[in-house]
Amino acid sequence: MTISLAEQDETQLGGPLSVLVRQKRDHITLNRLLHELGEAALDRQDEVLRRIYRLVFAHAFAEEAVLWPVLRRVLPDGKDLTLQVEQEHQEVNELVTRIEQTPAGSTDRQSLLDRLVEVLREDVRDEEDQLLPQLQARVDHRRLVALGIAWEAVRRIAPTRAHPVVARRPPGNALAAVPLTVLDRLRDRADSRIQHSSGAPWLERVSAKLTRASHAVEHAPFFRRGEDPTTARSDDEDPAVRER
Ligand SMILES: [Fe+2]
Ligand SMILES: [Fe+2]
Repeated sequence: MTISLAEQDETQLGGPLSVLVRQKRDHITLNRLLHELGEAALDRQDEVLRRIYRLVFAHAFAEEAVLWPVLRRVLPDGKDLTLQVEQEHQEVNELVTRIEQTPAGSTDRQSLLDRLVEVLREDVRDEEDQLLPQLQARVDHRRLVALGIAWEAVRRIAPTRAHPVVARRPPGNALAAVPLTVLDRLRDRADSRIQHSSGAPWLERVSAKLTRASHAVEHAPFFRRGEDPTTARSDDEDPAVRER
């Protein structure tokens, strides 16, 4: 019998260093940002979305690199459970890629945003109600703290953008993280300066070049190593060019 993280306080979850507390805190921040997105006027949507992306992509990357491999080892149904959340993460990556290519204010974009919010909420529920309570039941407090420290360390140096083409599992995702983290974080800086300097054409060119560079990098075949073939809905197609 396991209890959802939502129904446990921080002491029950192992204290501030535990991976369970760190996960729950990020999920609460995400919930607040999703609410903010729902209330945001059209001209503020992109800014709120950027904050959501910076939170969720690094968070999910660290789950895929640090936590899910442990769950596959300690839970009898760990393979199926982690595959399900990897599919959710993959859908988030594909949706964000499509949102970035769809004009603001269009009906298409609104349906993509609605689905994005839905999948992010499903992912949090699967983790808080199933995966993480089962991890809690199988490992001791020291392991929860060790996982918390490892997860946080990876989260801080992880990619912050959608990368639907790379694997959701090691070793592909870990190899891809090195160049993609650098490119993503440079793009974050360029985009935030664009936002605060109202239209600097050279910065927009820099951001576009970084985007092209990261698309080129993520297509390297060895960055797909380790992937379960059913993670993506369509394995061979790049969702950035898939027809809607
Ligand atoms: Fe999570
Ligand atoms: Fe997740």
